[in-house]
Amino acid sequence: MSLLKYWKSLTASLGLMFLLTACGGGDGGSDTASEPEPAEGETGGEEEAASEGSADAEHSFKLGVITPPAHMWHQAAEKFKEELEANSDGRMTLEIYPSGQLGNESDMLQQIEAGSLDFGFITAAEISSREEAFSAWFTPYLFETIKDAHEARQSDVATEMLGTLDQYGMTGLDYLFAGQRVMLFKDKEVKKPEDMEGLVLRVTPSPPMLEFYNSTGAATEGIPLPEVYSAVQTGVIDGMDMDLDATITNKFFEVVDYGAVTNHMVWPAVAVMNSATFTDLPEEDQQIIRDSLATAADFAVETRFAQEEEFKETLADEGMTIYELDKSVFEEQIQNFDEVYKQKDPMIEKFITTFRE
Ligand code: BEZ
Repeated sequence: MSLLKYWKSLTASLGLMFLLTACGGGDGGSDTASEPEPAEGETGGEEEAASEGSADAEHSFKLGVITPPAHMWHQAAEKFKEELEANSDGRMTLEIYPSGQLGNESDMLQQIEAGSLDFGFITAAEISSREEAFSAWFTPYLFETIKDAHEARQSDVATEMLGTLDQYGMTGLDYLFAGQRVMLFKDKEVKKPEDMEGLVLRVTPSPPMLEFYNSTGAATEGIPLPEVYSAVQTGVIDGMDMDLDATITNKFFEVVDYGAVTNHMVWPAVAVMNSATFTDLPEEDQQIIRDSLATAADFAVETRFAQEEEFKETLADEGMTIYELDKSVFEEQIQNFDEVYKQKDPMIEKFITTFRE
């Protein structure tokens, strides 16, 4: 090798090493290539400001959520971060880990209980594995719109439910809503429960949702969100329970042809925090957290409510047949659900009785 070539190759290698050190956590900390990176903010400027602020922060929190960055829950997490950092003058900062980067919801719940993760926006379906009372949120056709459910989150019974999480080392802080549940079918336009007989449908692995679907005569598979795309693609399932939001963000329109807009259940995420971390904070900071979450919850419901028609159009443009399916065809399933679930827990009975009109 000539001296010139050797010099060029040496400077290129040194340049690469410098770049890797600069990007790869040159703080000598514990960052490794396999460690998940927090999500990039939508706006680079804000993200920079947050990282600069974090050097002076008294509390640097982490939040995990199962959905990808385009989903409303992640956008709500971004809003929460913005409010938290602004309202605390940068004393509290937040890093968001979307798309299940920290594991599936059951993993994240365990991390929050153990204190290795501070916050989670966790589906009420997963939370109901700790406290059955949260199943009440999946009572079919209990709320007409997500705005009604958003109001119900401040009811005594919804607050009482959050309180039950204390015993697991978690503080239940609030509820956030994405779109209501709809039904997607791979290659059949289902118009009534009888059309579902013999179909294998994916349901979030949660007993109340399984109860509703099993009462239609469909066979059900409890499959977590990240595994659903390949399950329908490979023909393991014929359809799924989903929301329009995740149908778009997870590109399910590529593998299903029919979308029945049933809006049969609301779909809350529960905002939870490790209890010890929360109670160690001064009251003023606890209030900032609560207020910032309330602003994020308001933002989520208003934004999502306004997107309903746009989402349906997006899916139709992607080639899906989108159609409405009325509540009246599910009367039998609704009655069955109320009867079975009212008996399970006094809080569930109170919830259904309070909100069923
Ligand atoms: C689901 O399991 O269907 C799901 C989970 C989180 C957000 C949206 C959908």
